Amino acid sequence: AAISFQPENSKRISDKLVGIFFEDINYAADGGLYAELVQNRGFEYALSDRKNSDSTWNSSKSWSIEGFGASFSIDTTEPVHINNKHFAVLKVEKTGSGLANEGFDGIPVKTGEKYNFSVFAKSVGDNKGRLLVQLIDENKNVIAQSKTGTINGKWKKYETVLEANAASEKAKIVVIPQTTGEVALDMISLFPQNTFKGRKNGLRADLAQTIADIHPKFVRFPGGCVAHGDGLANMYRWSRTVGPLEARVPQRNIWNYHQTAGLGYFEYFQFCEDINAEPVPVLAAGVPCQNSSTCGHGQQGGIPMCDMDEYIQEVLDLIEWANGDKNTKWGKVRADAGHPEPFHLKYIGIGNEDLITDIFEERFTMIFNAVKEKHPEITVIGTVGPFYMGTDYEEGWELATKLEVPMVDEHYYQPPGWFIHNQDFYDRYDRSKSKVYLGEYAAHLPGRPNNIETALSEALYMTSLERNGDVVEMTSYAPLLAKEGNTQWTPDLIYFNNNEVKPTVGYYVQKLFGQNAGETYIPGTIQLSDKRENISKRVAMSVVQDAESKDIIIKLVNLLPAEVNAGIDLSALNIAGSEAVLSVLEGSPDDKMAAPKVGSLQVSDQFNYQLPAYSFSVIRLKTI
Ligand code: AHR
Repeated sequence: AAISFQPENSKRISDKLVGIFFEDINYAADGGLYAELVQNRGFEYALSDRKNSDSTWNSSKSWSIEGFGASFSIDTTEPVHINNKHFAVLKVEKTGSGLANEGFDGIPVKTGEKYNFSVFAKSVGDNKGRLLVQLIDENKNVIAQSKTGTINGKWKKYETVLEANAASEKAKIVVIPQTTGEVALDMISLFPQNTFKGRKNGLRADLAQTIADIHPKFVRFPGGCVAHGDGLANMYRWSRTVGPLEARVPQRNIWNYHQTAGLGYFEYFQFCEDINAEPVPVLAAGVPCQNSSTCGHGQQGGIPMCDMDEYIQEVLDLIEWANGDKNTKWGKVRADAGHPEPFHLKYIGIGNEDLITDIFEERFTMIFNAVKEKHPEITVIGTVGPFYMGTDYEEGWELATKLEVPMVDEHYYQPPGWFIHNQDFYDRYDRSKSKVYLGEYAAHLPGRPNNIETALSEALYMTSLERNGDVVEMTSYAPLLAKEGNTQWTPDLIYFNNNEVKPTVGYYVQKLFGQNAGETYIPGTIQLSDKRENISKRVAMSVVQDAESKDIIIKLVNLLPAEVNAGIDLSALNIAGSEAVLSVLEGSPDDKMAAPKVGSLQVSDQFNYQLPAYSFSVIRLKTI
């Protein structure tokens, strides 16, 4: 193949092309990115959290008695907070017994690490002792322990630190009153001190770092379907997820489990700031999932018109919460949570893959117009969903065009062949219409995990996204996270369990694009000697220049079973030196374990590079 470049036709492209889609699906939040180690800490799990009948899924889920001299019951009289009605009453007849929690598939403990324990407690009757807190490993050894202060007859938060003298992959935590009698307990919590950036109520350091390593330019949250829920009562309401943990409103997660809201809007925004990514919250367009059709828990239309003003105010309040001065009502809530400076929110998504019915259109229009009028500085992202939703996709585009919505969110999950054959998808887009946020996409082999074939077809397609970076503003692979043994959706980008993070081959493609982004697109041509379409569509290239380093980055994808010998002509580019950084991801099509290898490459004005069979190569060049 002969490769040359035409820098005279360079164009500006989006500086936010690669971001991430975070949805609380597959235990991505509780039991996942959110570092809380106690499951059902607020005793709020309920039978109604799950669509399948599971009688163990109740306020006692994950809790048990350790020892032989105690019992516990669940009470709701005079709770810590009205939003967290349930709490445990532990009755101790013989000291030494206590209330144990098994965590999310066990509590992972590391030797020498410190853990922050907290609990709301009050004595019932005369019991005024302290609480001994222990971490116990699989062999019943105590591997960490500490005591709280003396509890009294009023709800109060107690905190203590445990330091582990041994490791365990599956420990449990036990709270052991030091006197007999009854004690009420709620919001029993254990966090590693080693959270991402050491944040309180923070995120799991290894997982958060794996995400940060993509260098995402934005984070979309909290979904997906989680954003609009499967009924009005299940809609994600941002204002219920900020403030003190005990005052947040936990709820049923649409993916069939429980959502504590401990990872709420404050934590999402904080994470964005910590990784230098734009927050992209997505709020329901006043309608739940598939607004007027059957979805999960029943049939419901949108928010009644008489309540829409209130809902629109909630959307506007989010902007005040994120960006308002600390003297404003909502700015003060943010400041009180420890962030007096604004979060500089720039984007808001309204709607997620909704059916474009009159119910939707009416509500979306009201919200869009209100935000546009009050906050013209905010870019509203509308929704058109997947093109295979047929008329909804077309009607979504019609509505966006009519309202002049600045950007719309498209979704598609397709087989690798679709990505190979549709690299011109955005070449054909009308540049005068809304910009595109490709908010959810992935190459799917039905029922099978990511492999080199899916990853390379995504890489191939991403070269076309860079080429169309003047109309495609943002993109995010979906879904991002999945906890092994707890997945509702396959494939996902990053798998994990309590002790390990397992990025997929698709993750490395996202990371190579994220870490090698640029704001200028430099057109180039690849001339293959074999001109047949099924051959030429399997080799692709994109070239960008990074504004800060001025590096020029050439991305080359070869999805052919043979290597391609390329003669690369760099003479039109102002390359400095003769050494480039070369990253290569390669493997056989069904390889699921491949990871990129990084090395150096000798370059000159004219040089040869062999694109390995089934590979993605990134050549990073210094410029004069
Ligand atoms: O990414 C998983 C789901 O796919 C999202 O929740 C939804 O928006 C889409 O249908």
